[in-house]
Amino acid sequence: MDQPLILGIESSCDETAAAVIRGRILLSDEIISSASVQAKFGGVVPEIASRAHSDAVDEVVTRALNAANVRKEELDAVAVTYGAGLLGALLVGLSFAKGLAYGLQIPLIGVDHIRGHLAAGYLENEALTPPFITLLASGGHTAILFTKTETEFEVLGGTLDDAAGEAFDKVARVLGLPYPGGPQVEKLAREGKNVIPMPKMLKGMGGYDFSYSGLKTHIINYVHTKEQKGEAWSRADVAASFQSAALDILAEKTVEAAKERHIGTVTAGGGVIANGYLREKLQHACEKAGLKLILPAKKHCTDNAAMIAAEGLIQYRAGNFSPLSLNACASIPLR
Ligand code: KG4
Ligand code: ZN
Repeated sequence: MDQPLILGIESSCDETAAAVIRGRILLSDEIISSASVQAKFGGVVPEIASRAHSDAVDEVVTRALNAANVRKEELDAVAVTYGAGLLGALLVGLSFAKGLAYGLQIPLIGVDHIRGHLAAGYLENEALTPPFITLLASGGHTAILFTKTETEFEVLGGTLDDAAGEAFDKVARVLGLPYPGGPQVEKLAREGKNVIPMPKMLKGMGGYDFSYSGLKTHIINYVHTKEQKGEAWSRADVAASFQSAALDILAEKTVEAAKERHIGTVTAGGGVIANGYLREKLQHACEKAGLKLILPAKKHCTDNAAMIAAEGLIQYRAGNFSPLSLNACASIPLR
């Protein structure tokens, strides 16, 4: 049977993206980002994001079709992020996708953005099949999952408060770093040392839970105390110490979960997985435990449309199509 040709569209935050896949083979992967505009405001301004998506969506889809060397009439389905995210931003991609699906008389597949992040590993390894343990770490979620099938997972544990990406963004602000904070903290941490004592992360009852709120408060207090006393402190050391406290635990607990469940493969997804320090930690911990690690390429960890097309393929094969009345959702529970 021919592999389906699917167009993926993503517009949940500040990246307008489109990608084409044939089966699990990625044919094109285009992105137009408004991050540099948003940086002037220190974060994503929803209205600016929506307008930027409106300006970019037609162009990014055209680019994706051209780069894949396919005509839109050849598409078998259009997959699009319908949530979670900024409503106005989501509606731009969703409306565009609906128009395309209706015009071409092909199925529309509404994709949960987080499920898209979780599907990014499939782009990396065509033969990847569940079961595996998945570390999810993005701006809104941090959790360890037991992925049972392509469509079913169990949440083994997760953050009790802030998400890892959110903690990176907040610490970036304290350190006076521009938006987006995660990559900036990582860059600064390379110049520093992990020498500042950090509190042990709160471990919940379930064993795979963690908390970032206390860590963030500790950093804020450390910086304020140093400044009030007029004492010298190193921004790079704070970045390095925070990064290690925030990420070591993710690598440790992910491997712990794989061992406990006797699962030989680990995957990961979400913006924080683009962090080089975390990637090395995971690599090292998995190697030591004899586990196979499949990490999506860095560009498929942060928001992109290839992962939306990859999740679209899963839903296509499961026959899960969406009505043209599908609405955008600001939040979707992890399920
Ligand atoms: O998955 P994502 O692109 O968007 C969603 O939340 O869905 O994740 C964005 C988050 C932001 O909080 C950002 O600071 C963080 O991922 N992030 C990173 C890095 N790159 C992005 N955090 C740490 N190190 C990075 N290199
Ligand atoms: Zn995302």
